[in-house]
Amino acid sequence: MTHLDPAERLSVDELRALQLERLQWTLRHAYNNVPFYKQKFADAGVHPDDCRTLDDLAKFPFTTKHDLRDNYPFGMFAVPQEQVRRIHASSGTTGQPTVVGYTETDLDNWATLMARSIRAAGGRPGHKVHVAYGYGLFTGGLGAHYGAEKLGCTVIPASGGMTARQVRLITDFRPEVIMVTPSYMLTLLDEFERQGIDPRTSSLKVGIFGAEPWTERMRAEIEERAGLDAVDIYGLSEVMGPGVAQECVDTKDGLHIWEDHFLPEVIDPLEGTVLGDGEHGELVFTSLTKQALPIIRYRTRDLTRLQPGSARPAHRRMEKVTGRSDDMIILRGVNLFPTQVEEIVLRVPGLSPHFQLELTKRDRMDHLTVHVEAADGTPAERRKAAEAEIAEQVKDGIGVSVAVNVVDPETLERSVGKMRRVIDRRGD
Ligand code: DLL
Repeated sequence: MTHLDPAERLSVDELRALQLERLQWTLRHAYNNVPFYKQKFADAGVHPDDCRTLDDLAKFPFTTKHDLRDNYPFGMFAVPQEQVRRIHASSGTTGQPTVVGYTETDLDNWATLMARSIRAAGGRPGHKVHVAYGYGLFTGGLGAHYGAEKLGCTVIPASGGMTARQVRLITDFRPEVIMVTPSYMLTLLDEFERQGIDPRTSSLKVGIFGAEPWTERMRAEIEERAGLDAVDIYGLSEVMGPGVAQECVDTKDGLHIWEDHFLPEVIDPLEGTVLGDGEHGELVFTSLTKQALPIIRYRTRDLTRLQPGSARPAHRRMEKVTGRSDDMIILRGVNLFPTQVEEIVLRVPGLSPHFQLELTKRDRMDHLTVHVEAADGTPAERRKAAEAEIAEQVKDGIGVSVAVNVVDPETLERSVGKMRRVIDRRGD
């Protein structure tokens, strides 16, 4: 335990006291320096002085992605521009990017939390870390990069894309750790096999996968094919970037939220009421140390639940994210997440893990087609049987009829970063 940060070893009481002190600072900092927050607090009839316990946070209003868009580009910043050392942005689906900023202290905290995350995942000083998250405005590449350096690792800043070259770099440079989206890891594994290299013979021991939802079955699939420990990392630009929460390699039981910097809540997404630990709902974060972009009760849209700490006892865990409320497909009244289809696809023999969901409209009704690639060499009868099995399991497990189309290997779009699972052609 001696190699852990002191904050990882706090008792629950010590952590709660630290959180309250930092929360009171954050509320005042946001109120005094961001006109948006001052107005929003006034409209809700609250003032930072009203926060005397952690539960008082529930009196304060939520912040949403719309609020960041409305204050584009720098309206949410709480420090003068010359104190902002870096900008990141996420594009989202609607076009208008969400812009975030960091002071020097923010960048240092981020690197420290990423170093903590990589170490919890099994990375150690001296390891080589292959970073295949995209570099640029996306927080994945640079976030992982500075964390790995801070831990004392050798960073290989591969970024995303040029898949054949990635395999070559991994084979030649022999990194112990890879950081990449799970869907791009699948693309890399296919490329290893295409080049006639068994990925299990590679130097990789740990994969730190995040930036998109993935399931326990996907973990099993990747661990089996790649011969490494696959662990989950979570984060979002508005709250910092990767490293808000990290799964420990020794327990693989959900992600510890680094609560000395982020205060989580889970709410009922419709009512906005705070739910108890253990209840499923939408994750909401309040930053506790951020200077450039303090964020109060940010609605992530990510669905999960909170559980008590395990490997890091004071830091609560979030269960693997099942999906975002805005990824949820409502098909003839039934709610369905791409991760539920992933679980089923990976269970049926003769298929690859590559799948995509296509929504269309026929006779004023929504239809969903699951396109999934056959594994190499799967005979025609098995493909037909697999189509029927998936349709049946979706009907039994989720409760809705879908069409299933097993296609030839290497025909669906491949991920080089975050995978687009749902193609919505209902407006076409
Ligand atoms: O994806 C930050 C990140 C980079 C996290 C690299 C992990 C690794 P954004 O582009 O702002 O930031 O997207 C944030 O991605 O609200 C979730 O919906 C989703 N997401 C991120 N990590 C996970 C995960 C980065 N482990 C959005 N499981 C979040 C499920 C995830 N979804």
